[in-house]
Amino acid sequence: MKPPVRIGIIGLGTVGTGVVQMLQTNRAVIEAKVGAPVHLAMVCDRSATPAEVKKLGIASVFVRKAEEVLINPDIEILVELIGGYEPARTFVLKALHAGKHVVTANKAILAKYWGDIFEHARIYRRLVYFEGAVGGGIPVIQALNEGMAGNHITKIAGILNGTTNFVLTRMSQGGLGYHAALKEAQAAGFAESDPSFDVDGIDTAHKIAILASIASGTRVRLEDVVTEGITQLDARDIAFVQKEFGYTVKLLGIARFTPNAVEVRVHPALIPAKHPFANVQNEYNAVTLDGDAVGDIMLYGRGAGRMAAASAVVSDITYVARQVAAGTAGKLPYVSGDHRKAAKAIAQADMQARFYLRFTVADRPGVLASISGILGKRGISISGVYQPEDNFVSGKGASIMILTRQTAEGTMGKALKDIARQSYIRAKTVLLRIEP
Ligand code: HSE
Repeated sequence: MKPPVRIGIIGLGTVGTGVVQMLQTNRAVIEAKVGAPVHLAMVCDRSATPAEVKKLGIASVFVRKAEEVLINPDIEILVELIGGYEPARTFVLKALHAGKHVVTANKAILAKYWGDIFEHARIYRRLVYFEGAVGGGIPVIQALNEGMAGNHITKIAGILNGTTNFVLTRMSQGGLGYHAALKEAQAAGFAESDPSFDVDGIDTAHKIAILASIASGTRVRLEDVVTEGITQLDARDIAFVQKEFGYTVKLLGIARFTPNAVEVRVHPALIPAKHPFANVQNEYNAVTLDGDAVGDIMLYGRGAGRMAAASAVVSDITYVARQVAAGTAGKLPYVSGDHRKAAKAIAQADMQARFYLRFTVADRPGVLASISGILGKRGISISGVYQPEDNFVSGKGASIMILTRQTAEGTMGKALKDIARQSYIRAKTVLLRIEP
């Protein structure tokens, strides 16, 4: 038998606990793949209670200070599971500098410091694996990075945040209010420690930036991801588009690749009921990857939760440990490309979409004609119109819902500005995009 591969874990939260449990319960299957014993040499957490540590059976390897893991020369693989930007980024860079390979589920640092992290990995010839960062238990990183390696990727689209999908599912099916649904998602361990990362779309932006960086072989900057969350959504629009137009509302991350630029955006979108995404519920995620040779591939599975994320992290540990045991780890980088080069991003005004618009207007003759006239003048074609007879927004006037054909965001913005100046407008116009 080969000497053991030693791993150190920093972070014993939801995911870290699942990883420790899985390393214990699935030891045989993991070691058979690694071809050597896998030793949990150290586990570090600032706030785990002695009872939690004892329950996991790790008291003998438990430490409070991350530095102890980072300077331990026996540890070959650092598993970073604390999340957030700092001190996670510093720990990862220090570990690479100290000659350790890294497994992380931290989408925030990968999205923000992609160039830095992979430059360090290249310089120190170490591996950084990160399956747990996107799609929870879905092996999307491996599918994109390795399974589709010979393709030009043309588009990636996905429901990439379990918390918001859980909230939207409960709002549209369970009749639950936004806050009650979010509380349930938090209690189930799906949400980020700061749930605004989930509901403001930032977590999805992190994930789509990572996928787009792999696909483009460049660095897709977080600030180039046009990001809108679900907090502005009105439950009445969700119910209405479902009932009258047959759409389900989901928070999507989308990356589209042209030969010279990448379009990256995160926003709620109306999905036709017959599209597979419409049936992705609760904490489940789904992602489609379009390659020029293979066409489109769809992956589906649990996108959040302790054991789903643990599954992804342990698969990384297994594959890195296997290379460590074989003496090949770091000979080749895991992700190839020019990590320092920022991708050229398409500006929001030039992005194309179909739209759902809800106008709140004075109930008088000629209003619908005026709105459609302004849209028409801007070359925006209408594909559906509806005006409910009862007041949608009580006391404020009539509601007019319009679906449009594809147009540029910039053109739509100008048309809505023109419309906002009209005397019949009674409230802010609601705009949602329609996909695909
Ligand atoms: N907060 C994340 C989610 C966890 O809800 O999807 C998984 O990355």
